[in-house]
Amino acid sequence: MQFHVMTLFPEMIAQGLANSITGRALREKLISLNCVNIRDYSDNRHGKVDDYSYGGGAGMLIQAEPVYQCYQNLLSQIPDGHKKRVIYVTPQGRPFCQEIAEELVKNDDLIFLCGHYEGVDERVLEEIVTDYVSIGDYVLTGGELPAMVMIDTIARLVDGVLGNDASAEIESFHGKLLEYPQFTRPEVWHDKAVPSVLLSGDAARIRSWRIKESIQRTRERREDLYRDYCRLVQLEEILLR
Ligand code: ADE
Repeated sequence: MQFHVMTLFPEMIAQGLANSITGRALREKLISLNCVNIRDYSDNRHGKVDDYSYGGGAGMLIQAEPVYQCYQNLLSQIPDGHKKRVIYVTPQGRPFCQEIAEELVKNDDLIFLCGHYEGVDERVLEEIVTDYVSIGDYVLTGGELPAMVMIDTIARLVDGVLGNDASAEIESFHGKLLEYPQFTRPEVWHDKAVPSVLLSGDAARIRSWRIKESIQRTRERREDLYRDYCRLVQLEEILLR
């Protein structure tokens, strides 16, 4: 999987993803990250890429042409026949979720466009963007953090990126429930003991304890997901009747 990012702050993304699991995946070439500075495609000797918004209003917009040139240059590096998407990260997009990550990971190349200031000239968005995606109903100063959130989420779905492939599958959201609580050594910490069932060695009991805890936790913390889960269970019961 190749990630490409068009941004005014390429170091922010490259440095942020150079650590931990994504850092290892990059070093092992399981994923690659190509951050390009839109400013390098300015036709202005000061590297200026923003201008006022027609019709007035506060703030500056990124101009269409530097973004377009930057995109054309990226395209020229992507082999013909590669499956790709161009994602504009914006609070006006579809809310990002695990399902979108699972769709996007099926591509060979993902190109992210990060806006800054008040946004990007609409005309270039119309020409190049395939997906508008948001990470939540709040407004950040730029698209770099959302792009990093999405890249991290997608990267861990790439084969081999998580040490143990199974862990991506059984954990939160994939199964519609939040993950059960987990404990590591010591067995007692601040007078709190690890639930005894986890020390029993009885795999079936441990499994049912974990499912029960997952259901309870989802009910307490994410009522919306819990309702979805109940609907699915009811549906399954009807289907199996
Ligand atoms: N850019 C600024 N805020 C954003 C958000 N919430 N999601 C995606 N891109 C953004």
